[in-house]
Amino acid sequence: MTVGIEQTEERGPLHVQIASSLRSQIERGELTGGQRLPTTRDLAKDLGVSRTTVVRAYEQLAREGWVEGRVGMGTVVRRGPSAPREDRINWNLLLTPRIQEPDSEYRQVLRMLSQTDLLSFAGGLPSPEFFPGDAFQQLADGVLRQQGSRLLQWCPIEGYPPLRSWIADRLGCVMETVMVLSGSTQGIHLLTQAFLEPGDTVLVEAPTYAGAIQAFRGAGARIVSIPSGADGIDLDRLGAVLDRVRAKFLYVIPTYHNPTGGCLPVAKREALLALAARHGLPVVEDDPYSMLRYDGPQLPTLYSLDRDGCVIYLSTFSKSVFPGLRIGWLAAPRKLLPRLVSLRNVIDLFTNSLAQGSLYEFCKRGMFDAHLQRVCNEYRERRDAMAVALRRYAPDVSFDVPHGGLFIWARIPGEVDAHRLLEEAIDLHLAFITGSLFYPESEGRDRIRLSFACHPPDTIADGMRRLGLALQRSLSSERALSADAKTREAAIPHVVV
Ligand SMILES: Cc1ncc(COP(=O)(O)O)c(C=O)c1O
Repeated sequence: MTVGIEQTEERGPLHVQIASSLRSQIERGELTGGQRLPTTRDLAKDLGVSRTTVVRAYEQLAREGWVEGRVGMGTVVRRGPSAPREDRINWNLLLTPRIQEPDSEYRQVLRMLSQTDLLSFAGGLPSPEFFPGDAFQQLADGVLRQQGSRLLQWCPIEGYPPLRSWIADRLGCVMETVMVLSGSTQGIHLLTQAFLEPGDTVLVEAPTYAGAIQAFRGAGARIVSIPSGADGIDLDRLGAVLDRVRAKFLYVIPTYHNPTGGCLPVAKREALLALAARHGLPVVEDDPYSMLRYDGPQLPTLYSLDRDGCVIYLSTFSKSVFPGLRIGWLAAPRKLLPRLVSLRNVIDLFTNSLAQGSLYEFCKRGMFDAHLQRVCNEYRERRDAMAVALRRYAPDVSFDVPHGGLFIWARIPGEVDAHRLLEEAIDLHLAFITGSLFYPESEGRDRIRLSFACHPPDTIADGMRRLGLALQRSLSSERALSADAKTREAAIPHVVV
């Protein structure tokens, strides 16, 4: 049989485009469960591509669960959960423009990372081996026994008062300015809802947290980016932008930035606040990583330095304890907090009170500080292991060693595209995140983000060895790829069934 391969929005190499086209046909029901795909030899011939390209496309579809290899039958479309249901509603006509299709690059990377047998340095997550699960089980038991009826009932929107007060003490503010959140993502969402209408301008660093870009983009905001590096946001550029642009707020990650690992020095923090006060600019300080400090000085938060009520502060227990808690917090100027509280009222009322109660016990009994000390010691060792292994196995890669957080932000040689490198890496069962996901504009193709938290030092060394290999392969295939072959790869022939 023959199948048609059409152009899709999928970019990237030929096998990815072929896989994408076949996937769309399975999703639309044009290729059905049990149906045999052409042999790799036949399809390669039809399309005028190499057989390896088709084999790689089929392998990708098999990894994603769309097709399977059957003895004596070749490659067959899988029956069952991947088979589409008939969808009579045109959702696109009903959904608001805010609910966009996730952008295809993001989808493509997520799909690539969905393979299960990868040695992954992709996630911005703490390591599960240190999760204090047993402690939480006991604390939750005790909390339920002692204050079950109170705690399982209604909880104030602003948060379980003892936890709120503990957070305020840590932050050096009064509890009336603090709201416990269901993760700091909820804070980004609340602020987006509260401030941004389509067409409003929001300022961000470039690069910045991909989740924030998505939230602001989803609100239809105009995102203006200001370069940010090892010592944080470029204040000259920010000043120049503020002279001509009226923005609703600036979103920054001043300490152990995601993805750069960079830190805004104290003098720049003061200067940023002065600039914000002069321009009447609210500053959203997102601070999930400052607790994960391995060396270097402890830096004051923008929030603690702010004398003009410009800073709205967000943080979370997701990185320091575990993300499944879904507990973060926000500290906002007094006049703003009640407005955010009433907005929260129509979203989810309050954060899971059993989790808040257990977390409070964890904090009050000193277990949080002990846990933090332990994970910082482990992550410091892992960071160092990654830095050493990168220098050894991938000397062409340049990077700064971060003083805290979870990430090494690496620059790869200019002639290699990070997406191509990721493909080579996935062939070697290795994963990381490509840099472009952290930019609102198309930048960052020479960057990758490596998270060092989730593997012990020897596994990290093995991962960086594979990265070095993937880089060598990418470099040599870039060099070998003639202009002629590039042109041939760009156009997929259309084969009619
Ligand atoms: C900068 C930044 N903000 C917010 C979040 C989300 O944290 P939470 O799990 O509390 O929603 C992350 C997680 O990766 C992050 O890196």
